[in-house]
Amino acid sequence: MLIDPFGRKIEYLRISVTDKCNFRCIYCFTHKNWKWLPHHEILRLEEIEEVVKVGAKLGVKRVRITGGEPLVRKNIESLVERIASISGIEDLSLTTNGYFLEELGEKLKKAGLKRINLSLDTLNPEKFYKITGVDGFSKVKRGLELALDLGFSPVKVNVVVIRGFNDEEVLDLAKLTLEKPIEVRFIEFMPIGGNSLWDKSHIVDTQEIKKTLETYRPLLPADSVGGGPAKVFRWEGAKGKIGLISPISEHFCHRCNRFRITADGRLRPCLFSDYEINLKTALREKKVSLEELFLQALKVKPEGHRLNSTLKPMRAIGG
Ligand code: GTP
Ligand code: 5AD
Ligand code: SF4
Repeated sequence: MLIDPFGRKIEYLRISVTDKCNFRCIYCFTHKNWKWLPHHEILRLEEIEEVVKVGAKLGVKRVRITGGEPLVRKNIESLVERIASISGIEDLSLTTNGYFLEELGEKLKKAGLKRINLSLDTLNPEKFYKITGVDGFSKVKRGLELALDLGFSPVKVNVVVIRGFNDEEVLDLAKLTLEKPIEVRFIEFMPIGGNSLWDKSHIVDTQEIKKTLETYRPLLPADSVGGGPAKVFRWEGAKGKIGLISPISEHFCHRCNRFRITADGRLRPCLFSDYEINLKTALREKKVSLEELFLQALKVKPEGHRLNSTLKPMRAIGG
């Protein structure tokens, strides 16, 4: 079992399978001159499988596939199939921008994917274009519907709230839960990747979001399916749920249960620290065991973090 010096049990691996993305979200693509990782730096699918096998042996039960945009990675469904068949992995999920779900949803379901978290920051197609740089609102909306039709459960919708961009849509987005069995989660905007847009005036904290939501109906506590940091509520009579994720206003480090694996094969014990352990070299040179490196990561996982805007962007770390 992976238990760190602060008593936190690590059961959740978030794996970034690519740093590439077909979107250019304003909160994620903040530098003008970014470079993609070269192909040979990216873990191969069988290498990712090996990392998960070692994690599972050590007590990992949940795996999330993320990016960048994981659905731009070739043969992603075969990775899903490999991970789904590893004994001990009880929860296998994907975080996606939803654009390629139309094409890949069915294959992913067949391969054994259980659930999907999809980003959708606005219900207005023009604003969608302004936020993501892609005229893709209708396609993502169809991807969301398909995910529901295919029976992924739960389907969660991630909304990063930024004042002046989409804060006025909080109620409309939450009202999707009245008719659809989805969990809409509002996320505080984090200062990651040297984000020039990030300043106090753009942050909307979840206390403010909660107040806005309660102008419509009181929020009742609800159960969460998943192992992430969201606090979950629901409106009486609604089919879905509402989640609040507060990395800025209320650190959840004390209940953190995860390690991240970056696209270039680094084990990152904390989102907010650029300290990483090189698994890729261990995988390719076979001089150190992965198990040893997992145990080393456990020892250095920090108790907490300070917000640090110089970190790599989310797409490089695994959003
Ligand atoms: P489940 O609860 O298992 O569905 O997963 P999740 O909510 O962790 O996954 P998702 O990829 O949808 O993450 C949603 C948001 O939670 C991300 O955009 C981050 O803003 C935030 N988040 C996830 N993990 C961490 C973490 O370790 N630290 C911090 N500060 N934020 C995180
Ligand atoms: N702050 C908060 N959330 C972010 N995401 C990407 N960048 C940021 C940021 N700076 C979110 C995406 C996606 C999730 C994986 O990470 O919207 O839902
Ligand atoms: Fe792509 Fe996700 Fe970053 Fe948007 S937030 S640019 S969808 S990786």
